[in-house]
Amino acid sequence: MKKRGRFLPRCANRMSELNPLFENNKRWVAKIMERDSGFFQKLARQQKPQYLWIGCADSRVPANEIVGLLPGELFVHRNISNVVSLNDPNCLSVIQYAVDVLQVRHIIVCGHYGCGGVDAALHNQSIGLADAWIQHVRNVKEKYWEELSQLKKVLQLNRLCELNVIEQAANVAHTDILRDAWARQQRISVHGWIYGIENGLLRDLNITINRSPNGLAGTIRP
Ligand code: CO
Repeated sequence: MKKRGRFLPRCANRMSELNPLFENNKRWVAKIMERDSGFFQKLARQQKPQYLWIGCADSRVPANEIVGLLPGELFVHRNISNVVSLNDPNCLSVIQYAVDVLQVRHIIVCGHYGCGGVDAALHNQSIGLADAWIQHVRNVKEKYWEELSQLKKVLQLNRLCELNVIEQAANVAHTDILRDAWARQQRISVHGWIYGIENGLLRDLNITINRSPNGLAGTIRP
């Protein structure tokens, strides 16, 4: 009982902080049902998204909202700095499911300017447990350091954000999952996009890959 007494007030406080989320949820359901009363019933039967989105976990980059897609239209994987590591079973499982089971037509790797993880990689800053994860972005920085070091300091971060997208999109194309899909003539493309937090606009980095990686070197040059 003692414990309960100690925890209750804090608990109650936390509930009131979270209540608006449930209120928002009810309003959101009502808005969707107004347009299509069978929307959720249809969705419950199956999902058939055309796109896989691999983006940064940053709260300012909400995948569905940015591209105006409804539930059921976008399969999503997000992590710090939109990294696609060939050693990450989490990301690879998502890609495999999207390609083999859902048969999405497009995989979009979307970074964003001003990314905190990319900034930490650029300036060798420690941000905690994610330091090991950020090594993937430090590798991109090292690979392109000759180009980056010639830029003014203020431009380096955003350029590394772009280069990171290009490298992670190439990683997607180098997975056996995509190689196998292309080998069996599955129609699927990998894209690299970047999002501007300051203006809400998406930019295509024009590195679309839609065939096996043999010719990749020429295809993915920014
Ligand atoms: Co970010």
